[in-house]
Amino acid sequence: MSKTKIAVLTGGGDAPGLNAVIYSLTRACLNTMDCELIGYKFGYRGLYLNDYIPLTMESTTGILHIGGTMLYASNKDNLFDYLVEENGKMVKKDVSNVAVENMKKEGVDVLVVLGGDGTLTSARDFSRKGVNVIGVPKTIDNDLASTDQTFGFDSAVNIVTENLGRLHTTIKSHNRIMVVEVMGRSAGWIALQSGIAGSADVILIPEIPYSIDKVVEKIEERDARGRFFTIIVVTEGAKPIHGEASVGKFVADSPDPIRFGGIAAKIATELEGRVNHEIRSCALGHIQRGGDTSAFDRILSIRYGVEAARLIKERQFGNMVTLRGNQMCNDSLENVIGAKSKQVDPNGELVKAARLIGISFGD
Ligand code: F6P
Repeated sequence: MSKTKIAVLTGGGDAPGLNAVIYSLTRACLNTMDCELIGYKFGYRGLYLNDYIPLTMESTTGILHIGGTMLYASNKDNLFDYLVEENGKMVKKDVSNVAVENMKKEGVDVLVVLGGDGTLTSARDFSRKGVNVIGVPKTIDNDLASTDQTFGFDSAVNIVTENLGRLHTTIKSHNRIMVVEVMGRSAGWIALQSGIAGSADVILIPEIPYSIDKVVEKIEERDARGRFFTIIVVTEGAKPIHGEASVGKFVADSPDPIRFGGIAAKIATELEGRVNHEIRSCALGHIQRGGDTSAFDRILSIRYGVEAARLIKERQFGNMVTLRGNQMCNDSLENVIGAKSKQVDPNGELVKAARLIGISFGD
């Protein structure tokens, strides 16, 4: 019998832990099956162009802790709606059959897709076309349904928490207000967890629309207690009551073209003149996705990779590996993609705990 050929790709924005999944999946597969592995470069683009590298024990050595992805990533290449040149014009076409043919030609038996909702939507669509697909849930935003935690999220929370500590010492020295914008799209997980861990005074998240008057109230309350500095953490996709989220950029050829941005600067401008402090804002941006992978994410990614290898061995395709409580599980890609994205529960235990220790949500 010929060896099982397993292909891996990393799609969407990068996240710490991608390399750790590649590392553990490669090892667990090679140690339990008669197989060979390849990795397509730049996500689905590599699948379309048949551009790949072998994944071996040697080629994946030393990558466990490193953020980013050794396979490169792209958040633009949706092969079901792909920009191609036709008669001198750029047009969007479904080129997914080219990818299926490439896999057939190469003898690829299984496709393992590491990605968030956009990338996994295509994974589900390839599964519908009869490709043997396994999904692994990646995103620093932690907004994917069916799994309690995506890999990359813990690393991002640690980075933001550390930076809130740095910002505290400077704003305290100047009696300033600092508005800090963090990633997360329309989910407030990063702001909520890093805000609590990093002693933020105000946390503004998309799930709880804010009023600037309430933010001013919190600053005044702190002033009255002799705390002449305030740190406000805001998710990029947060919105005021009766208002809209701030869009920073439109990436036309991305499956999810809206990039939020600018909310921290907007809030800083709105606070100007309303409080007796200097106000500054900053957006932590892609720093949140960079650097080394946290210990928690390394372990979570290893568990996901090992569980993906088990599903491959048992030929349970069309599924995504998940974390439920402290248990490795799996769910069908149909369920994952069909479900609403996972947002913070405004009445959940963590929001309540934050309120009880004095954090304002601007509502
Ligand atoms: O989904 C992950 C994420 O980092 C979001 O938090 C952020 O809005 C977006 O990706 C940024 O995307 P890009 O890498 O295209 O700037």
